[in-house]
Amino acid sequence: MAQDFRVSTCGEAATIIAEHPRGYPKELEHTVTLRNRARVRLRPVRPDDEPRLMALYDRLSVDTAYKRFFTRMKTLPPALARHFANVDYQRRLAIVAEPTGGEDSMVIGVARFEPTDRPTIAEVALVVEDRWQRLGLGAILLEEILRAGGQRGIFEFRADVLAYNSGMLRLLAHHTDVARRRTLQGIAEISFRRRRPLRVADVDAMRR
Ligand SMILES: CC(C)(COP(=O)(O)OP(=O)(O)OC[C@H]1O[C@@H](n2cnc3c(N)ncnc32)[C@H](O)[C@@H]1OP(=O)(O)O)[C@@H](O)C(=O)NCCC(=O)NCCS
Repeated sequence: MAQDFRVSTCGEAATIIAEHPRGYPKELEHTVTLRNRARVRLRPVRPDDEPRLMALYDRLSVDTAYKRFFTRMKTLPPALARHFANVDYQRRLAIVAEPTGGEDSMVIGVARFEPTDRPTIAEVALVVEDRWQRLGLGAILLEEILRAGGQRGIFEFRADVLAYNSGMLRLLAHHTDVARRRTLQGIAEISFRRRRPLRVADVDAMRR
């Protein structure tokens, strides 16, 4: 992935500051407030997130890591972290969440989509660090990645979810329109779309 670098010579040692890679959709950056009032910044992933993604993996509980990757790994392999951090922002996109205010930037959640063999269907994956779960961040990340998908012409999504993963299944049931679900060998393959925001006319109709 092409990336521009700016060399800062302020101070004794020259530091290299990573700038936005080509095609970086800056408009997807914004800050949200979670249920516990913590402020979290959302932004598209960048190549320099590779070590942050590895550090996030190291902080995940075994259960959370297994639900995300369906396997046990001691660490996130560097090649996989590099793949995750380098996207084209069109067919492959990831949005990361980082708490505001900390000195070092730290990734606490990631939502991504990857292409499938059908150009209008993408595969979604989500993870939120354990101590940040149940605060609404998963639902926010899901909404952000589905909306970004729609802006890129992707309206149908798929996710493979362990059949016992009630958290993710509830998240999809509550926040998306699930079209299909089939379970094979303990893995539920869910097809879904972004839930359309309610229009005033819909709300009026529900009140009648
Ligand atoms: C699934 C996951 C992303 C949810 O993130 P989160 O930040 O805890 O989710 P939220 O706080 O936004 O919760 C959203 C909804 O999901 C439900 N939910 C979340 N975690 C749940 C759990 N452990 N058990 C039951 N319901 C749960 C909540 O009822 C909530 O519903 P509501 O919005 O109607 O109140 C997170 O638990 C996670 O990272 N799990 C491990 C990785 C994973 O399972 N990935 C999915 C496969 S790709």
